[in-house]
Amino acid sequence: MQQLPTSIDETQSLLTAQDYICGRDLATVGFLALTLGKPLFLEGEAGVGKTEIAKALASALGRRLIRLQCYEGLDAASAIYEWNFTAQMIAIRTAEATGGATGGVTRKALQQELFSDEFLIRRPLLEAMEPHPEGPPVLLIDEVDRTDEPFEAFLLEALSDFQVTIPELGTIKAETPPIVILTSNRTREVHDALKRRCLYHWVDYPSFEREVAILRARVPDCTKALTDEVVAFVQALRGEDLFKNPGVAETIDWAQSLIALDAVALSPEMITDTLGAVLKYQDDIAKIAGSEAARILADARDNLADAQAAL
Ligand SMILES: Nc1ncnc2c1ncn2[C@@H]1O[C@H](COP(=O)(O)OP(=O)(O)O)[C@@H](O)[C@H]1O
Ligand SMILES: [Mg+2]
Repeated sequence: MQQLPTSIDETQSLLTAQDYICGRDLATVGFLALTLGKPLFLEGEAGVGKTEIAKALASALGRRLIRLQCYEGLDAASAIYEWNFTAQMIAIRTAEATGGATGGVTRKALQQELFSDEFLIRRPLLEAMEPHPEGPPVLLIDEVDRTDEPFEAFLLEALSDFQVTIPELGTIKAETPPIVILTSNRTREVHDALKRRCLYHWVDYPSFEREVAILRARVPDCTKALTDEVVAFVQALRGEDLFKNPGVAETIDWAQSLIALDAVALSPEMITDTLGAVLKYQDDIAKIAGSEAARILADARDNLADAQAAL
């Protein structure tokens, strides 16, 4: 089993090796979460790298990633397990059909069989509590803000005891707790009680330097000059009054789009043609397309020149 990192620096370089570029602040809470065995609660705008860190951590540690994607109406039972209803029906039919010839299984035996492991469909929380040969998995509880308070209360309990209960089978407790990462896009406030169980970190948009490093890692085909321009432009865009700011995901998509179009530098026309990679609301696109794109590009280039002069 791969050992956990023993320092903040090691945590940071494990993540960098997975092309996940983070600052010392995030590496610190990450290291502490691993060391103290506490869940890590990451909050921030969409596309800043919350989900990705769980993936990066799982591959860095050689652990399985188990993802519970939250949504409105998600209930505790379906986060843990489900019975394979179709297979159960077939088993009942088979028992009925053969029962006539063989004298039949007793009602009780059939019931026991129907609610056994064979017919159990494991959902993320149950999977995360079960033993894994490569070591405790990374359990990603993604976008908790999409669920409701009763589900939060259930999570709080599940994450306190690291156990889940299946009425027909009993309680399953994790021998070694999973590494838990919760994320929220903060479409609403998640309850204090749940946050208190966790180490908390606000994931902000990256600085210019860090976003350049992310783009270099994720889109290595993009020239240094184009990378700098793309990042400077996106950073300037985040200062505009938009309905939805572009995340790192959009910066990456945009760079890839520009490469696909053989662009070597930005121009207001090129920006206007490819805005759909960066902005996802028509009002935002209409606002930036054309003369605004030219103005922001000029600002971005000024900022770039200042940054380069400062070096
Ligand atoms: N720090 C980072 N290092 C490398 N890639 C990143 C980083 N942050 C974000 N990304 C990229 O942006 C994409 C979107 O990130 P994601 O984790 O899905 O955002 P969130 O979950 O916060 O909405 C990822 O697929 C990844 O390619
Ligand atoms: Mg996400």
